[in-house]
Amino acid sequence: MRSPIEDYLQALHDELTELTDGRPFQNIPAMAEANPDAFAICLATVDGHVYEVGDSREEFTIQSISKPFTYGLALEDHGQGAVDQKIDVEPSGDAFNEISLARDTGRPANPMINAGAIAATSLIKGSGGRDGFARILDLHARFAGRQLSVSERVYASEAATGYRNRALADLLRSFDIIEDDPAHPVENYFRQCSIRVNARDLALMGATLANGGRQPVTGEQVVEMDTVQRMLSVMLTCGMYDDAGAWTSAVGLPAKSGVGGGLMAVLPGQLAISVYSPPLDEHGSSVRGIAATRRIASEMSLHFV
Ligand code: DON
Repeated sequence: MRSPIEDYLQALHDELTELTDGRPFQNIPAMAEANPDAFAICLATVDGHVYEVGDSREEFTIQSISKPFTYGLALEDHGQGAVDQKIDVEPSGDAFNEISLARDTGRPANPMINAGAIAATSLIKGSGGRDGFARILDLHARFAGRQLSVSERVYASEAATGYRNRALADLLRSFDIIEDDPAHPVENYFRQCSIRVNARDLALMGATLANGGRQPVTGEQVVEMDTVQRMLSVMLTCGMYDDAGAWTSAVGLPAKSGVGGGLMAVLPGQLAISVYSPPLDEHGSSVRGIAATRRIASEMSLHFV
């Protein structure tokens, strides 16, 4: 039997199905053919209840929603001071793929834009016989509470067309923000963007952040509270790129979107909302994702700041 929350989410889902603006991401050929009608809304609480409607078990690539998680792993590996020397925490007000590097130091404005995310990925080294990417994948899986895999198809397509991201990595190398061969971290960044998740996973990943880093179903403390605070702070100020100010004013929740059509928003201490719908707005965020989260935040009075 459906709960009243699921009835509410289903009614919202049905209503927003009418919203047909936007197009799936076109820059990565394997993503351009994503099903524009796929649509899911989930809500997960810090005590591990998941409410899900629509295509909540359909997998898609996480894309930029991986950025706060890999940044969190870099913070745990190196500490905030060392990471701050490489990546700033200032909203750039620019698009996700802008160059946004400090003129003198080459430090990326924040870890949510591609330049900052590639720098964060470069900080993840292998350990215990595992390479850096295995640790990134494992971290995402621990947040989701299940094993995750990579879409080799999307990875190959992004790797074949990712000239701008490679140029960003080369620039970061020229400033010594990336200290080794930039080819390796940028490939890991493409792989990290190609991790397959579903909307239920995103809701639980967000609920883990809402729960101070403890996965609500497995009970594992995945990252420290200090790390969570920093992850949520940069999501609030920079997670929605050049739409961050309007988003925070209207919705007031730390959030992250990805060009795969996923969106994850977090109400610390309580819950997370996730949406999956591939058609995107001009900022690269899911049109229905924005609309659904705005409605839920307003109708449930979740505005946090
Ligand atoms: O690097 C890129 O451009 C893509 N793999 C990810 C961009 C993305 O998801 C931006 N978010 N809305």
